Amino acid sequence: MKTKSLRGRDFLAETDFTREEIETVLAVAERLKMERAMGIYHDTILRSKTLFMLFYNQSLRTRNSFEAGMTQLGGHAHFLDPTKIYTPALEGKEVAYSTERVSDVARVLSRMGDAIAIRCYGDPVEWEYGGANKLLREFAKWSDIPILNMEDDIYHPFQGLADVLTVKENFGGFKGVNFTMSWAYSPSVHKPRAVPQSAILYATMLGANVTLAHPPEMALAPDIIAKCEEYATAAGGSFRITHDFAEGIKDAHVVYPKAWCPVQIYKPPVGDDDIEAAQRIFDSHKDWKCTEELMDTADKEAIYMHCLPADRAYEVSNYVIDKTEGPGWRSVVFDEAENRLHVQKAVMSLVM
Ligand code: CP
Repeated sequence: MKTKSLRGRDFLAETDFTREEIETVLAVAERLKMERAMGIYHDTILRSKTLFMLFYNQSLRTRNSFEAGMTQLGGHAHFLDPTKIYTPALEGKEVAYSTERVSDVARVLSRMGDAIAIRCYGDPVEWEYGGANKLLREFAKWSDIPILNMEDDIYHPFQGLADVLTVKENFGGFKGVNFTMSWAYSPSVHKPRAVPQSAILYATMLGANVTLAHPPEMALAPDIIAKCEEYATAAGGSFRITHDFAEGIKDAHVVYPKAWCPVQIYKPPVGDDDIEAAQRIFDSHKDWKCTEELMDTADKEAIYMHCLPADRAYEVSNYVIDKTEGPGWRSVVFDEAENRLHVQKAVMSLVM
């Protein structure tokens, strides 16, 4: 188990960590979860420590799981609204007296606290794919304390950790587990790719048999796909892509359908900066909805997963998301949401 190597590290992307390090995080999360259920307190682990949380986008789960997690570990989390401070901006994107250069913000907060967590994707970086990740990496360059990625435009590494912890709890591990990450229809095209990209990276890294299902226009980033292929080979699992929703779900143990944007939404050179075209593509795939009939074709012990918030009645039927008990397949979305708390406490305990 690798623990010492994690101290002081940024948590920006799962690809920055070895499989052994990720397995350490999951083991620590399982222990913290079990001990909390037993009434054991963990409030000496990060006593008197401060986490600064900078949200360029809205959040229910991420904000509250980090904030509750810091309280449970004996520290405190500050919520920072970028519009109520001088909005941290990259060099060249600054506006006099309404922004402050990231290098200055990172160095100031480094003098006062113990980690900085940031969420940024989409509109705040004008849908420049990778622009938010660049912002987080600039923070990391200047900060003396760990930077934690609460979702950027490439990775949602804490959601992915909660996802794989949920799979491990249900199947005991990843070998032989058929993990289907699928696109599903939503009326809103404003959905970053971070959740599916992190989910397939973790699942291949840990040795699952991963299927990525999506309409042809909803391809994920080529470098992420290449990394999944590399992980699957190294871990002895598999990775494939299908454009057939029903075929992707058939016999799956894990069914994880959610919307993500097509490439047209992004600024050139990645996309066309054409939100209307992106919306038209979305609206031509309304039949990609997870229904009871589809879930009945999955493995009989299958779990339905979603990072939430879900677009009920579009991405998924109410029956599917609300069927949280067996017999047969069931929805584990609230276990998955709870696991955000435990994995984040594990990472914070290890890196801060
Ligand atoms: N899954 C997730 O990140 O939820 P929030 O957007 O509510 O934080």
